[in-house]
Amino acid sequence: MVSPSSVSLFLSLLIASSAAKQGPSIRFSSTTSQPSATSSAASAAPTAAAGCKCTSSDSCWPSSSEWAALSAQLSHPIFNVLPAGYYCHDPNYNAALCNAALQNAGDSIWRSNQPGAEQSDNWEFLDGSACDITTNRTSPCGQGRVPSLGINATTVQDIELALKFAYDRNLKVKIKNTGHDFLGRGLGPGSLMIWTHNFQGMEFSPSFKYADGSDSGFPAVSVSPGTQWVQAYGFASDNNVVVVGGIGPEGSVGAGGGWPLGGGHNILSPTYGFGSDNVLEIDLVLPNGTSVTVNKNQNTDLFWAARGGGGPSFGVATRLVHKAHEISPIYAYFFEAFTNGTDSFVDLVDTFQQAMPALTDAGWSGYYPFEASAYFALMYLLPNGDNDKGNSTMGPFIEAAKAIPGVTIKTDATLTYPNYQSWFVANILDPVDVIGFNYTGAGTSGSGVDTASWLLPRALFEDPTQSHSMAEAIAAMPAGIGQHVGGGVIAQTDPDFNAMHPNWRKSLCDISIFGAWADNATQPAIDAIRTGVTDLLAPLRDLTGADGGQYLNEPDLLVPDYPTANWGYHYDRLLSIKQQIDPTNQLLVIQGVGATNWDSEQICPLS
Ligand SMILES: Cc1cc2nc3c(=O)[nH]c(=O)nc-3n(C[C@H](O)[C@H](O)[C@H](O)COP(=O)(O)OP(=O)(O)OC[C@H]3O[C@@H](n4cnc5c(N)ncnc54)[C@H](O)[C@@H]3O)c2cc1C
Ligand SMILES: *[C@@H]1O[C@H](CO)[C@@H](O)[C@H](O)[C@H]1NC(C)=O
Ligand SMILES: *[C@@H]1O[C@H](CO)[C@@H](O)[C@H](O)[C@H]1NC(C)=O
Ligand SMILES: *[C@@H]1O[C@H](CO)[C@@H](O)[C@H](O)[C@H]1NC(C)=O
Ligand SMILES: *[C@@H]1O[C@H](CO)[C@@H](O)[C@H](O)[C@H]1NC(C)=O
Ligand SMILES: *[C@@H]1O[C@H](CO)[C@@H](O)[C@H](O)[C@H]1NC(C)=O
Ligand SMILES: *[C@@H]1O[C@H](CO)[C@@H](O)[C@H](O)[C@H]1NC(C)=O
Ligand SMILES: *[C@@H]1O[C@H](CO)[C@@H](O)[C@H](O)[C@H]1NC(C)=O
Repeated sequence: MVSPSSVSLFLSLLIASSAAKQGPSIRFSSTTSQPSATSSAASAAPTAAAGCKCTSSDSCWPSSSEWAALSAQLSHPIFNVLPAGYYCHDPNYNAALCNAALQNAGDSIWRSNQPGAEQSDNWEFLDGSACDITTNRTSPCGQGRVPSLGINATTVQDIELALKFAYDRNLKVKIKNTGHDFLGRGLGPGSLMIWTHNFQGMEFSPSFKYADGSDSGFPAVSVSPGTQWVQAYGFASDNNVVVVGGIGPEGSVGAGGGWPLGGGHNILSPTYGFGSDNVLEIDLVLPNGTSVTVNKNQNTDLFWAARGGGGPSFGVATRLVHKAHEISPIYAYFFEAFTNGTDSFVDLVDTFQQAMPALTDAGWSGYYPFEASAYFALMYLLPNGDNDKGNSTMGPFIEAAKAIPGVTIKTDATLTYPNYQSWFVANILDPVDVIGFNYTGAGTSGSGVDTASWLLPRALFEDPTQSHSMAEAIAAMPAGIGQHVGGGVIAQTDPDFNAMHPNWRKSLCDISIFGAWADNATQPAIDAIRTGVTDLLAPLRDLTGADGGQYLNEPDLLVPDYPTANWGYHYDRLLSIKQQIDPTNQLLVIQGVGATNWDSEQICPLS
């Protein structure tokens, strides 16, 4: 990320001004009421620099009375956003509140309830300004990337008023839901945050009618933006249907925000499609505060862009309609093996990869976590499958795996679930009832996390030489997960059906890797992890060439040429739609459409 010196100066100003913040009582910051204590503040321009967004350290930031007038029109008062570790540090230390934060620091539901917290806490911090829950109470608590003011949005009108207010004043604005974003896109220093988490609601339609009254013919679950998947899954199940959504520990990924807007993959996507493929209609508030409804009949360009263009680049969703599907029993296969070195690991992965095209055609999909050339697991599903079909299609791989020297099989089990909901509860929510890989323990909430992903086209799995090279690249990775979410209906869908990277349609798998660090890691150590993660995917990028891509919701901060990596040839069309609905660049995010020529916080354009 480019960070010109003007931006660094800007950020250091924010740190200086946030250090002056006092207490949680409602106090609308504006430079007119703040001491200009530092020498750098004295030399600051009085308003945002030309072309820049206005932030809380600029004199263009609205006055207290302007904020109060807006606040009076909203469902909830505007609040000062506190960093998650606020009560763990002097002078605001509070033993009870700090202990609650310490106990819950790794809990993804608790983190999503904190307006100032991200799941990957490194995105809350700026260099030299961390308000960490776990550090000594004497260490300073800075505002970091946590926005200055928050809007606790629970109605469409809240979002319309807030966006219009920000648009009229050119304010830096951020949209935050659960905070799962791997690039912390819901936060930004000195910004106004629209927090959608408490905007709750779900509705079931046995046969969904579009806004123009025409009948879609599909059952659907409509969600308000704050709904989380754990809620939507249960609600769908109560109505005897299934919806596909995020698979995070505790089901805390949002059902009405970044997941469906950025693509959204699920273990059952080859059977039901991606999240963006299943979206029937969206209500969006545009940057200027105007609400529009988009679906296949109206505002079709925007409907195309919003499904895969990434949140919130094409507006803020206030209602999102997920197509639902008939419930079916799920046949599941669980496998775990240890390997005694690189050779046996490569052999095992290669063997499985070469089996994947046939498994896909038989209806299987799933995840394959792996670790350090030593461990390989399968968590696979066959919707509507039974023992006969399961055994005849998975059997050849199991026999081949047993024959590989140096492979020790730990788990080889099958189980039939009455439906997706019962599979989800048993394998993702329930930490006790674990078969094979413990997915409930796979969360990284509350630590620093770097991620990266790469899409792997089916052609590579069909070519033994290429498959072997892929296996060798995977063997060099400390840990990761193969997400076999392509093929099936994904491959049958027109690559231009929505804005998602067209290469998704020819991919079988998305390899996703992570680097994590403790909160006390030094910046050079973090930088080394980031570079390492990017480098680990280089062999896969080389193998796929232009047929690969990254999943924008599992992004590598350092990926080369992010517009092409995220969207391929769809980027040009996305950019032109973006320029029509967001001419003032109000809703830019890291690696978002239209953000290529902006600084790393999208506050000032790069000259
Ligand atoms: C533990 C974990 C598990 C995951 N599992 C999966 C998975 O199984 N499949 C998968 O595809 N992805 C998965 N992801 C990635 C996930 O899709 C992204 O993190 C996604 O962006 C989360 O969206 P959110 O709304 O919950 O989070 P947030 O971080 O709050 O928001 C993400 C982005 O969407 C924007 N946004 C939020 N709400 C709105 C809105 N109403 N309108 C417009 N923009 C909005 C935000 O500004 C931000 O840019 C996982 C991530 C984690 C951390
Ligand atoms: C916190 O810092 C203080 C002052 O530097 C020190 O005396 C104390 O031992 C530290 N506490 C912990 C738990 O590290
Ligand atoms: C936001 O609104 C919810 C729902 O009314 C409420 O429970 C919560 O305390 C509010 N939070 C803040 C920070 O205002
Ligand atoms: C296939 O059947 C055999 C014998 O009943 C059993 O041991 C094996 O676990 C089954 N495998 C699968 C994938 O169902
Ligand atoms: C792994 O086990 C196989 C079979 O026992 C053996 O031939 C091979 O040498 C072992 N490899 C290593 C690295 O130990
Ligand atoms: C799975 O992981 C969770 C979270 O770390 C843990 O609480 C649980 O005990 C683990 N389950 C098993 C069966 O090991
Ligand atoms: C970070 O903290 C852990 C203990 O929590 C300690 O072992 C480690 O040395 C610390 N690392 C740094 C870089 O301070
Ligand atoms: C808001 O922006 C949209 C898209 O550019 C435009 O069509 C609409 O007229 C604008 N509304 C107002 C009130 O300016």
